[in-house]
Amino acid sequence: MTEHAEWDSRYSDAEQIWSGNANEAVVAELTGATPGRALDVGCGEGADAIWLARHGWTVTGLDVSRVALGRAKSAAEAAGVTVEWVHSALLEADLPDTGFDLVTAAYAALLRAPAGAAVRALLGAVAPGGTLLFVHHADFDLSEAAAAHGHDVADYVSPDDVAAALGDGWQIGPGRSRQARVPATPPTSSCGPGERRWTAPTR
Ligand SMILES: C[S@@+](CC[C@H](N)C(=O)[O-])C[C@H]1O[C@@H](n2cnc3c(N)ncnc32)[C@H](O)[C@@H]1O
Repeated sequence: MTEHAEWDSRYSDAEQIWSGNANEAVVAELTGATPGRALDVGCGEGADAIWLARHGWTVTGLDVSRVALGRAKSAAEAAGVTVEWVHSALLEADLPDTGFDLVTAAYAALLRAPAGAAVRALLGAVAPGGTLLFVHHADFDLSEAAAAHGHDVADYVSPDDVAAALGDGWQIGPGRSRQARVPATPPTSSCGPGERRWTAPTR
């Protein structure tokens, strides 16, 4: 099954998968940040992208699932905000080089690609002086969840992969872990704890 089909099938299992609330890590890191152009990679049903748009960012939400993007679009319309939605896998997307002041990838479940291409695509989208916020599960064993989808945790891009690919001059924000508040009843937020943030060098 392709990535597109796999995620479409997963989203099609329920009317809504995620909570509709922006991830706590995204809100905590970006409240008060000066808005600019933002790219939300693996935006899912759109809660983070919509939160960013509400806070003045010009947002592009990118996701491999057409089903998720349809929900994201409806949610943005209901919220009265404009987001550009792009249906594509990260590696197939036609993104402007260094085109975004902020690139977020919150639990984006990106599969590793040869020669670190997925990580390079994330880093390459960040404008000089911009920020990459990579939010990932920490202190949480993802093996079972990954296996349920026919993958190994090692197949996915990790915060360490991103950290290892940073070139000279990137400023690394504190790697923080936080305990996410996840509602007791579904649909739940995608959040799990943990995020790392990097600021791009001035190029
Ligand atoms: C765990 S969900 C997280 C969704 C959203 N960021 C959130 O926190 O609610 C992972 C999302 O990444 C998307 N995704 C997975 N691989 C992708 C890829 N290579 N390119 C773009 N999106 C991808 C999936 O379709 C899914 O919507």
